[in-house]
Amino acid sequence: MNPSSFPARRLRRLRAQGALRSLVAEHALTTDDLIYPVFVLPGSQQREAVPSMPGVERLSIDLLLEEMKTWYDLGIKALALFPVTPMSQKSECAKEAFNPDGLAQQALRALKSAFPDVLLMSDVALDPFTSHGQDGLVNENGYVMNDETVEVLVKQALSHAQAGADIVAPSDMMDGRIGAIRHALEQGGFINTCIMAYSAKYASSYYGPFRDAVGSAANIKGGDKKTYQMDPANSDEALHEIALDIQEGADMVMVKPGMPYLDIVRRCKAEFKVPTFAYQVSGEYAMHQAAFANGWLNEEAVILESLLAFKRAGADGILTYFAPQAARLLQR
Ligand code: PBG
Repeated sequence: MNPSSFPARRLRRLRAQGALRSLVAEHALTTDDLIYPVFVLPGSQQREAVPSMPGVERLSIDLLLEEMKTWYDLGIKALALFPVTPMSQKSECAKEAFNPDGLAQQALRALKSAFPDVLLMSDVALDPFTSHGQDGLVNENGYVMNDETVEVLVKQALSHAQAGADIVAPSDMMDGRIGAIRHALEQGGFINTCIMAYSAKYASSYYGPFRDAVGSAANIKGGDKKTYQMDPANSDEALHEIALDIQEGADMVMVKPGMPYLDIVRRCKAEFKVPTFAYQVSGEYAMHQAAFANGWLNEEAVILESLLAFKRAGADGILTYFAPQAARLLQR
């Protein structure tokens, strides 16, 4: 055989052994990359399953503190809190959003005092608090009013910072809210409170199970969020949104949903080189769980592969309902 007929490069050579594969691996997933979204219930000793999100539970604050011990030992260092507000506390003006003793604010205080070194991220948006389930205040035609909503978001973000949020995360998609919140935080002396902007948040149908979990689905009743969340057809527009949020003072930006939008994560990281996050949302979690339950996908391998894909795309971190399970798998 003529040696010159062999390929000069054999890419399989570096794949032949496990240690070589790890030596040349370009990306790695660690528990440090994970943010765990949790649903908070009022009262005590309350624990409810979310049917469309098998394995996810809504917890009252006392049980959340209990569970946090386990997550802490697994190395989870960041939580994103989502309050489940009773219907009786929802209103047209969403005033419960900035109640200093609201559920999110209470949970922030309790977690911060019990686990001072766990990062607490709070959701800034009005949908858990509006009787109609939209993320902002609506006018007589049902249109979500931008500037009026921003005023309420500012109060909400300040109340979260006061209660101990390390990161406030506006997920509402109103124009100008990052600048307004940044200004108010500076004025209020919260110079080190971070803003993670849900900059490129799409009007996605993958949020369905989340809306079941927080109880905003029933309210929206066939309505949608297309006048403020982005059109899934667009990609350049996401870069505009991200550029504005950075300019207005965001410390970190987020793309949401995750897996169907990894192209946006990639473009964002390449263009702006800022800390970039992605949210593997409730619908993505539900699809995986459905396939696992049927034995159609290998659960452990697919969880880690799906999360590594975010790192490869350029994400610095991932919000995922798989966080504790992934942390457990990474410990092995
Ligand atoms: C609300 C909010 C939503 C999610 C996070 N914050 C839902 C929505 O915009 O309707 C979705 C998260 C998920 O699906 O896991 N502002």
